[in-house]
Amino acid sequence: MNTPTASAEIDHVALLMDTVASAEDANAKAVKSTMLSPRFYTTDFKVMDALDVSSVRADWDVMMKEYEGDNNHDHFQRTLMPQLSPEMRQEFLDFLISSLTSEFSGCILYNEIRKNVSNPDIKQLMTYMARDESRHAGFINQSLKDFNLGIDLGSLKRNKAYTYFKPKYIFYATYLSEKIGYARYITIFRQLERHPDKRFHPIFRWFERWCNDEFRHGESFALIMRSQPELLQGANKLWIRFFILAVYATMYVRDHTRPLLHEAMGLESTTYDHEVFRITNDICRQVFPVEVDIDNPAFSRGLERLLKISLAADRAKQRGGLVGKLQVASCAVQAAFTFGRLYWLPVKKQELPQTIRMEPVW
Ligand SMILES: [Fe+2]
Ligand SMILES: [Fe+2]
Repeated sequence: MNTPTASAEIDHVALLMDTVASAEDANAKAVKSTMLSPRFYTTDFKVMDALDVSSVRADWDVMMKEYEGDNNHDHFQRTLMPQLSPEMRQEFLDFLISSLTSEFSGCILYNEIRKNVSNPDIKQLMTYMARDESRHAGFINQSLKDFNLGIDLGSLKRNKAYTYFKPKYIFYATYLSEKIGYARYITIFRQLERHPDKRFHPIFRWFERWCNDEFRHGESFALIMRSQPELLQGANKLWIRFFILAVYATMYVRDHTRPLLHEAMGLESTTYDHEVFRITNDICRQVFPVEVDIDNPAFSRGLERLLKISLAADRAKQRGGLVGKLQVASCAVQAAFTFGRLYWLPVKKQELPQTIRMEPVW
């Protein structure tokens, strides 16, 4: 696909991105909440406790056996550290810090739900998922420690802001983030499997086994949502559209601030993101009755526009002062308008399949 890109402007972003030079910078970056950085969440635990998954019991029990037979214990070992150029190092650190924050966000949320419910199905599920996410976060943190930039997870937990989401929003957002996480990790893994010379850091070797955990976490939320059919009907379809688009747009803008990272892997940010959208759309048919039409040229144009606005907002922030503030406000209005236009593009609709569970075959 040939889409117009804002890549000419991306160099500026590399310059504007907060530079990580010390462990203090790395920790500050993880704590900071922005439009694009991963957040921490809390929710209504009573609703979580009252969930009844009996309508999907057979699938649920099979899934629990898979968690129990967890085969990923000992795969995350470290090897040699590579030499990276300073720009590449910044993009890679940004990638590691945001991935760690996102993994740890899952770990905290699942752990809090586990502690606050007595429903045995949900408690057991949350125990397994918190275990996996803690392992993922710990593994990324090991890589950061190799750069002497380890994140203090205890202090991150205490100091980062928490966003309250109703349980149903947690289901939509977390399902999507688990599945898009799978799609992102597997796309990188497959690329580096084809081009081992481009595997510039050992962490990528573990992406396949690791993303299978994410895939399974997504399966859990798919079963929960399918066991509560009202979450997937009526006006809730509008929320589903909103969350799909929000997750896709955030990823697109964020990924385009790391062009060198993708280039080093032989990928190009726009093509990579479209591949990730395609895999995620394919998977989401197990649970969402609507999907964003990623082949509509207006979709690609809208994302490019959001990227340009985000770059302009970064420049305005750098500029500061009254003019800078006015420019930031104007960017926010333009971004909301562009997002609204994207939101009202026609979506694809589908019947939900009889068989809910899927295999990670990408
Ligand atoms: Fe994870
Ligand atoms: Fe996960």
